[in-house]
Amino acid sequence: MKIAVIHGPNLRLLGAREPEVYGTDTLDDVNRKLGAVAQELGAEIETFQSNHEGELLDYIEEAAARVSGFLINPGAFTHTSIALRDALVGVDRPFVEVHLSNTAGRERFRRHSYLSGVAAGVVYGFGVQSYLLGLRGLLGRLDGR
Ligand code: DQA
Repeated sequence: MKIAVIHGPNLRLLGAREPEVYGTDTLDDVNRKLGAVAQELGAEIETFQSNHEGELLDYIEEAAARVSGFLINPGAFTHTSIALRDALVGVDRPFVEVHLSNTAGRERFRRHSYLSGVAAGVVYGFGVQSYLLGLRGLLGRLDGR
């Protein structure tokens, strides 16, 4: 089973970007840890990062044909993008939304997500563990566990 992992805007800077909020793991570290969990569970991942909303939409449309679900950290598009929500709903694959930080405890504008209501699940506040837990949850859902 294959899962597409999507990292939204500014996540390319992980490790250097506000480490007190987002931790010191780089994006490569996160992808490597996800790959290990996927392998442990007999699955595989492909990963994609973009700072551009349209590129994320194009990727979702194109990847949907070859993956069973999506794990996505939409970054700031979480709080702004109806188009991202529509794209994920449109391809009819389960997705899990993850955030490194506890978005509920930060600025007010981060409390609303356009995606949460249509996600299979949401994990936030555990740093890189949010991604790993989210992947386990998504694979469990797809396996009917
Ligand atoms: C984030 C939280 C968002 O509010 C923020 O814009 C990000 C990162 C997180 O992983 O905690 O870019 O998605």
